[in-house]
Amino acid sequence: MFETLKEQPADKILSLMTAYRADPRDRKIDLGVGVYKDASGNTPVMRAVKKAEQRLVDRQETKAYVGLAGDPAFSDAMIDLVLKDSVPRERIAAIATPGGTGAVRQALELIRLAAPRARVWLSNPTWPNHPSIVKFLGMPMTEYRYFDSSTGLIDFDGMLADLGKVAEGDVVLLHGCCHNPTGANLTREQLAETISCLQARKAIPMVDIAYQGFGDGLDADAYATRKIASSFDNVLIAASCSKNFGVYRERTGLLMAIARDAAETKVTQGNLNFLNRQNYSFPPDHGARVVTEILTDPELRADWEAELEEVRTTMLDLRKQLAEELRRQTNSDRFDFVADHRGMFSRLGVPTDVVDRLREEHGVYMVGDSRMNIAGLNKDTVPQLAAAIAAVMQGR
Ligand code: LMR
Repeated sequence: MFETLKEQPADKILSLMTAYRADPRDRKIDLGVGVYKDASGNTPVMRAVKKAEQRLVDRQETKAYVGLAGDPAFSDAMIDLVLKDSVPRERIAAIATPGGTGAVRQALELIRLAAPRARVWLSNPTWPNHPSIVKFLGMPMTEYRYFDSSTGLIDFDGMLADLGKVAEGDVVLLHGCCHNPTGANLTREQLAETISCLQARKAIPMVDIAYQGFGDGLDADAYATRKIASSFDNVLIAASCSKNFGVYRERTGLLMAIARDAAETKVTQGNLNFLNRQNYSFPPDHGARVVTEILTDPELRADWEAELEEVRTTMLDLRKQLAEELRRQTNSDRFDFVADHRGMFSRLGVPTDVVDRLREEHGVYMVGDSRMNIAGLNKDTVPQLAAAIAAVMQGR
């Protein structure tokens, strides 16, 4: 049977991780996979996570199954973190999922169950796993313009023109904050216009929020998600705890599905539970329990928020330093946008051959579309990166 299998295309982000590890050069720089790294290149376990895990070890007396939706306390704590009181609780169905990717996958499966012909609209560009999963599920898919690589800015006119073609019931996937891969986010005015456009088209928004707390702060980063959640009858929201709690390998995420009323929530919840059961029965629990412990304990929460804030400001400082260094070393302001972007990523906007040369000649690993993980830098490697970019870009 397996003789019929064909090679699958390598994941662009994950294959870069392998190539970086195999590179023997000392001065290599990893700007690939979206994992936070401190100044020494480590991805530490956050202090509050360590403490919460210790408490669980001391206190937990069973590893028996929880429930198909996961621990209700986790849903409540995450709904509060992401949505606050923007939507009445009785309108929110939720399931714990294996990471944010699990939430994206289950959201798409719910859409397919509810509206098999719905088309999914994805920003161009978006996280490569979005189109990959949509395609794998056999759902119709279209891109809408989002980013102009030549300016490093959002192509908002193009975006609105494309979203103006969305059909009733189509699903439009938006990034909650810290757009991956560009780092370019809608302003509040642009968001309001986008919402009006989608309301007029009778579209269903789906939000992927994987970097809450990495951009402008926990509440500011949830602004768009809350606004969208409170503006439509039905919304799907995939939230990840991988980055903001640093629990990447624990696979911790939550899918929220906003329904019109309590009766619709009940049926939606049943369908979400069903989808969990079909795909993996019970969602992973350890990371979810750690997150719940942190969010519901004032002391742990304060410590987590403080550490997250350090992570956020470190990345902001690196952005500023990189923009300045690039301005100095390339003698141009073409990369100034790096300082204005938010979150882990910025897209440099250079062609693939430049990305290849950066890797081959300078040991700089960024994704092929020139996405850089800003957290892969430290204050010593910023000038090194800027010098490499300046050298490769000379005369272009
Ligand atoms: C990324 O975009 O690098 C992260 O979300 C990790 C991944 O799974 O691709």
